[in-house]
Amino acid sequence: MRIDFFSAQKYDRQFFDALNHQQHQLHYWDAQLNAETATLAQGADAVCAFVNDQLDAACLSVLQQLGVRWIALRCAGFNQVDLAAAARLGLPVVRVPAYSPEAVAEHTLALMLTLNRHTHRAFNRVRENNFQLQGLLGFTLHRKTVGLIGTGQIGMATARILAGFGCRILAYDPYPQSELTALEGQYVSQAELFAQSDVISLHCPLTPENHHLVNAKSLAQMKPGVMLVNTSRGGLIDTQAALDALKSGQLGYLALDVYEQESSLFFRDLSDSLPTDDLLARLMTFPNVLITGHQGFFTHEALTEIAQVTLRNLEQLEATGRCDNQVGLL
Ligand code: NAI
Repeated sequence: MRIDFFSAQKYDRQFFDALNHQQHQLHYWDAQLNAETATLAQGADAVCAFVNDQLDAACLSVLQQLGVRWIALRCAGFNQVDLAAAARLGLPVVRVPAYSPEAVAEHTLALMLTLNRHTHRAFNRVRENNFQLQGLLGFTLHRKTVGLIGTGQIGMATARILAGFGCRILAYDPYPQSELTALEGQYVSQAELFAQSDVISLHCPLTPENHHLVNAKSLAQMKPGVMLVNTSRGGLIDTQAALDALKSGQLGYLALDVYEQESSLFFRDLSDSLPTDDLLARLMTFPNVLITGHQGFFTHEALTEIAQVTLRNLEQLEATGRCDNQVGLL
C-alpha cells in the first residue's frame, strides 16, 4: 500500500519508518493538505493527515478522483474533516481514538502549575541572577475547585491527577462517567461549573454546537481571576473575548496548547518571519498567558501508539474494508 503523509514532520518519519518495517510505501510531504496540495497524492492508496490539514469537500473530491481509497488521521480529533462529504465520496475515515490520554493530561497539569507558580518567569529571572520573589506569588492547588469540561479519555486522566493533588473536581459532560464519582468528583451544569471553579480546563471535542463555548457571556459567569486551560481545540474559545477578559482582570490566567488560528502558525519555525497574527502577538505580551504549540500529545509513548494504530487501521481497511476506528457516516 502507498500511504502519503501530509504536514509531515521529521518525527513522523522517524516513528512511522521504525514501525513500518518497509512493508508499505510511505511518502512524506511537508505541505499541509488542502484542495491544492491534494494533487501530490497522485498514485497513493491512502492519505495520512494531521490536525491542521483541511479535508473539506473540495480536497476530498480531488483525493477521490486521484484514486485515494482511505483517509487515516494520525490524531484523535476529526473536526478538520467534512465527514458528510467523505461519506458521499465513499472515502472511509479512520483515526487514533486514544494515544496516551495521560500525555495530554500531564501537559495540562504542566501548564496549570507553570502558570500558577510562574515557573516560566522564574526560569528567565534566575538566569539573569535575579532571585527576587516579587511577582511570583502563586496559589496552592490543593483544595482548589477545578472544573473539567469533557470527561472522556483525557478529561478523566486529568481528573485522576487532580484527585492526587487534593483538588475538588467538578465536571460537565453530556455523558457522565461513574469513575469521576469514584474520585469524589461531581457532575454539575455548565453554568454551575463556570460559577464555582478556580481553574477551568477544556477536554471536549470541537463541534459546531460548542464553537466559542468560552465567550464574553460565559467568561462573565466565571469567578473573577479564574484560570482557563485549553489543551483541546482552539475554536472552543473566542480569543478576542478571552483577551478582553484578561485586560479587565476577569480572566486571571490563560494557558493554551491550541489556538483558533493555529493552522497557519503551529508546527512551523516562523522565528525569521514578522508576526502576522495580532491577537496572538497581543496575548503573548501578558505575563499570565502561557502558550505552547499543540504539544500535549508529544511524547515518545504517544507517537509510538499513533504510528502503530494508524498502520493497523489502514491494514484492517485494506483487508476487510472496515475498521474499528472508523469515524463518520460510511
Ligand atoms: P473523548 O472522545 O474520549 O472525550 C470527549 C468527551 O467530551 C466525551 O466524554 C464527550 O461526551 C464530551 N463532550 C462532547 N461535547 C461536549 C460538550 N459540549 N461539553 C462537555 N463535554 C462534551 O476525547 P479525548 O480523547 O478525551 O480528547 C478530547 C479532545 O482533546 C479531542 O477532541 C481533541 O480535540 C483534544 N486533543 C488534544 C491533543 C493535544 O495534543 N493538545 C491531543 C489529543 C486530543
